[in-house]
Amino acid sequence: MAERVIITGGSGRLGRSVVAGFAETEHEVISIDRELPEHPTEVVDYRSIDLLDAEATSSLFQQLQPTAVVSLAAIAVPFSAPEDVILKTNAAIAHNVTAAAVESGAKKVIIASSPSIMGYGSPAGWVPPRLPLDEEVTPTPWHAYGLSKYVAEQVASMFAQQTSEVTFISFRPCYVIAPEEWDGAPTQQGHTVRERLDDPALSAVALFNYVDARDVTDFLLTALANIHRVENGAVFFVGAKDALARRPLAELVPEHFPELAHLAEGLTGDAPAFSIQKAKEVLGWEPKRSWRTELNH
Ligand SMILES: NC(=O)c1ccc[n+]([C@@H]2O[C@H](COP(=O)([O-])OP(=O)(O)OC[C@H]3O[C@@H](n4cnc5c(N)ncnc54)[C@H](O)[C@@H]3O)[C@@H](O)[C@H]2O)c1
Repeated sequence: MAERVIITGGSGRLGRSVVAGFAETEHEVISIDRELPEHPTEVVDYRSIDLLDAEATSSLFQQLQPTAVVSLAAIAVPFSAPEDVILKTNAAIAHNVTAAAVESGAKKVIIASSPSIMGYGSPAGWVPPRLPLDEEVTPTPWHAYGLSKYVAEQVASMFAQQTSEVTFISFRPCYVIAPEEWDGAPTQQGHTVRERLDDPALSAVALFNYVDARDVTDFLLTALANIHRVENGAVFFVGAKDALARRPLAELVPEHFPELAHLAEGLTGDAPAFSIQKAKEVLGWEPKRSWRTELNH
């Protein structure tokens, strides 16, 4: 079914790929972002607005009458702003966008969360019940960004309690690699993909997770098409099939996280630390790209 879809954060690192991918489908695409993109796509309707303004957000959504909403806008990097600002901004955007989506009659709402809500990297030491992590493991965020994304998931869950007319999904994209980054452009927090592979300490920060932005786009398109299969408020990890590492995590995890050594034995070969089984089983989505096939420089 062709949707009239609003994508928030459409000018961002992930949003640019998602908007471009959606624009190639039968869907009508509206991108809402504070910033207009440097290289707009012809068929896309770009709107500039501050999504922290609840009233302006609500009236723009009423005017646009979307059937589906994909919400990516956020402060996307931990500690890139004061902790209180990150928490308030991301929580408010999640609430404003979801409320406006419901009020304007959208039937499908997909909200970007993050795997970092799980709590890896915590200075107090983080030991999950198992690896790979799956959606049944309880998040234990340790910074405002992680907490704000956990709040975003709970916003979706709260609205799912208010209406069964709308289906809500939260998804946790792993460390996003945009297409140009395979050719040597710097990744989100600096360093090229090759540098991240050559120095495992750089990838260890995100527990060696990653995903190609085009695979995230495929996930979102698949999720919209198959949303009827989803339990309302469901959460999905969205990652690559392998780890961003040249050696097995069964070796690398004990080296970088000695406290997790007992959990890593099963992570042999190229297995990642995040399971994407649920997205495959429920939605029928699988990533198509790996650093092994995409890396050029
Ligand atoms: N990039 C990753 O590796 C990664 C990993 C996990 C989750 N995520 C999540 O995916 C989403 C997209 O991430 P990204 O890397 O593209 O981030 P990004 O910073 O490149 O893009 C975010 C976009 O949101 C817009 N925005 C921020 N505040 C706004 C506001 N008040 N009003 C309107 N627009 C606003 C920004 O202008 C920007 O274009 C975020 O929600 C992020 O938390 C990203």
